Amino acid sequence: MHTRVLTGITTTGTPHLGNYVGAVRPAVLASKDPNVDAFYFMADYHALIKSDDADRVEASRLKIAATWLAAGLDPNVATFYRQSDIPEVPELMWLLTCVTAKGLLNRAHAYKAAVDRNVETSEDADSGINAGLYMYPVLMAADILAFNANKVPVGRDQIQHIEMARDIAQRFNHIYGREFFVMPEAVIEEQVATLPGLDGRKMSKSYDNTVPLFEGGAKGMRDAIMKIVTDSRAPGEPKDTDDAALFTIFKAFATPAETTAFADALHGGIGWGEAKQVLFERVEADVAPMRERYEALMARPDDMEDILQAGAAKARAIAGPLVETLREAVGLRRGRAGVAVPVEAVAATPVPKAKPPRFASFRDEDGSFRFRLFGVDGEELLLSASFADPKAAGQLRQVLSTMGGADAAIESQGDHVALLVGGKVVANGASYPDEVARAAAVLRLRSALDALAAATAEDAAAKAANKAG
Ligand code: TRP
Repeated sequence: MHTRVLTGITTTGTPHLGNYVGAVRPAVLASKDPNVDAFYFMADYHALIKSDDADRVEASRLKIAATWLAAGLDPNVATFYRQSDIPEVPELMWLLTCVTAKGLLNRAHAYKAAVDRNVETSEDADSGINAGLYMYPVLMAADILAFNANKVPVGRDQIQHIEMARDIAQRFNHIYGREFFVMPEAVIEEQVATLPGLDGRKMSKSYDNTVPLFEGGAKGMRDAIMKIVTDSRAPGEPKDTDDAALFTIFKAFATPAETTAFADALHGGIGWGEAKQVLFERVEADVAPMRERYEALMARPDDMEDILQAGAAKARAIAGPLVETLREAVGLRRGRAGVAVPVEAVAATPVPKAKPPRFASFRDEDGSFRFRLFGVDGEELLLSASFADPKAAGQLRQVLSTMGGADAAIESQGDHVALLVGGKVVANGASYPDEVARAAAVLRLRSALDALAAATAEDAAAKAANKAG
């Protein structure tokens, strides 16, 4: 089973070695796990809360995107996108805002800290605080819930935000009476090293003690490394590795054997200057090829744009149908025929390629496995029976993916339609107020099953062609 792992990347500042070791490298590695469906995005709407400098916002998210790609994130494997390219996110944010208790947001750490600072300095409590900071947790909940992410890797300071996302999701599910959202879980990477900075404190932009990752090139990195604070032991004197920042940084890049050799050299009295050169060369061995990719990417912003647009399309294929379902649920329904539009306007509008219907699997509260089938426009067509064994649910999905609409056994049962396989009800549709609505639903269900079978066949043909080629 795939676990959807989603995380937002703040797009302020210039990436440094600490970001690379603590965030980028582990996330890129995690995205390669075949059991993981990774969604990583630039949280650029969030960036506006902290910065009103448009050029900085733009430059910084470009650099961050290039950094992740240069560090080996494969956009064909992970879904990599900009938050601001997904209109469903702010749309969902509003739906969530309307079920979020204001009191919950009053308790958010970041907002409370800002208020406390004001109170300490005898300012008005909300002085200088924008509503974006106040709404931060709801936007973050929308980021997560728009994709029904299972796991959200974050730093400790973000745990409260994940709890709030769960709280908001639960409220929405409760109010609108269905399990629209799965409950996301925070994943705290305890074993990931926080790198010390030049002065031995945690490497952080706010301490001004960072070693830049790419900015300034190899020279910029070397210059910074040469400024790492050490004790005053002279060459020839044995050096302590225990709290030497230099040694800790080395360890974050080196193999155990290299680390042992470096420790031996330090105990054996290598001079600090020479040790810094060894450190620089070791880090540079990893960073140089990435820097080359980074510079190539930064030189081709159009290519990067294409990559990010493709990522946005992949992401919207998930968020779009979900938000459409939610709109229905809250009563923001659209007439199926749509509003009459002048013929010329219709002709000028490119017809978007229809997305195939899709399944969404989930686990019920009792632990059983179920799935829904959504139509092309996001309508929920079927809810499967419960299965104790995920394989059984998977088999049924497979059957539905190939059966086609014409042969499907669909029956009206009371106010809803049911799908039967081998004479047994395996899934139910929504309820409809009358015969006509129910008949229309059956038509939509049949055509969805047709589209699904066509997509499955197309997929199989493409795979066969790939193998043959
Ligand atoms: N708030 C997160 C941080 O500061 C960034 C973020 C925004 C995020 N949206 C998210 C993280 C969604 C995880 C999921 O690090």
